[in-house]
Amino acid sequence: MTTPQASQAAVLCGLGAVLPPRVVRNDELCAGLDTTDEWIRSRTGIRERRIAAAEVSTADLAVAAAARALESTGSTDVDAVVLATTTPDHLMPATAPSVAALLGLTGTAAFDVAAVCTGFVYALATAAGLITTRTARTVLVVGADRMSQLPAADDRTTRPLFADGAGAVVLRSGTATEPGALGPMVLGSDGAHRDLLVVPHGGHMQMQGPDLFRHAVDRMSAVTRQAVQLARWRLADVDRIVPHQANARITAAVGRHLAIDADRRVQNIEYVGNTGAASIPLALAQASADGTLQRGHRVCLTAFGAGLTWGATTLTWPDLKPAAHPAHDTPMERT
Ligand code: COA
Repeated sequence: MTTPQASQAAVLCGLGAVLPPRVVRNDELCAGLDTTDEWIRSRTGIRERRIAAAEVSTADLAVAAAARALESTGSTDVDAVVLATTTPDHLMPATAPSVAALLGLTGTAAFDVAAVCTGFVYALATAAGLITTRTARTVLVVGADRMSQLPAADDRTTRPLFADGAGAVVLRSGTATEPGALGPMVLGSDGAHRDLLVVPHGGHMQMQGPDLFRHAVDRMSAVTRQAVQLARWRLADVDRIVPHQANARITAAVGRHLAIDADRRVQNIEYVGNTGAASIPLALAQASADGTLQRGHRVCLTAFGAGLTWGATTLTWPDLKPAAHPAHDTPMERT
């Protein structure tokens, strides 16, 4: 009798994230903007955010996060670099080849994925595909964004929300039954609603906040349910949900819809704002650093973004060394 082989899967084996050192508190942001600390905190949950210095590029942020993720694995052996970003350094080429080169990975496959705030989950799915088709054994997946450059300087609706950062994970080939194996992926889009959050060529961000809010809650709730069901878990089994950090009220509403209480929701928006594709890996690194994420936890990653796009997946948290806190000993010292 032969033992059936567990199916191949992408397994999370490394994690790292960085925040630029410059903290911008609401009070500082409010100077010259028709808003208040009280309004921003009560309507979004954000107290402060990190803003990258003008000369720090998306590639710089990505490289710093990726270096931490690679260091956590003890190896730089990577077959592909997938970078999720909405703020590439150039219209062309993609930013991922620069990231690979700066990491000393010249010759490695490298490309960008554009799905705005869902970008990291789309990139995970892409990387998992590279692994399960045996195109790559190990993939570096990075989410890096300088979202703070997209709003107009005088737009009180969008400027308080968006900020900068980067996070990265390393995925390796393994089996679906191992801790760290990514579960089934659920991805979706609806371009009919593209105008709800758009940056026109040469222009600034335009956002229809309340409509976007409703879509975010509905889509993240639905996609979380689907991913959990496909993993053959129940929502009650989820130890930690790691949602894209767009607004603390969106996360709370998703929690209410799914009966996932605040203790099981990872949240760091207070200190980072909306960092686009960096949001989920930044939250993962912070939760790993402070012990919110523990080995054996059943984790669901769920995201929503402009497009519209949405996506979710699951994993059992592996036996990883706790990540360095993204705000500590940051290598992004150029302020
Ligand atoms: N300071 C003070 N007042 C503000 C303000 C600010 N920064 N931004 C908006 N307002 C005002 C509006 O002009 C409006 O005034 P009015 O009633 O006189 O017309 C009032 O506050 C309510 O605005 P509204 O847009 O309905 O507020 P809201 O509770 O929906 O909160 C957002 C606004 C943007 C915080 C919220 O809609 C949101 O988070 N939406 C989703 C954004 C998002 O997730 N984007 C990224 C997706 S990945």
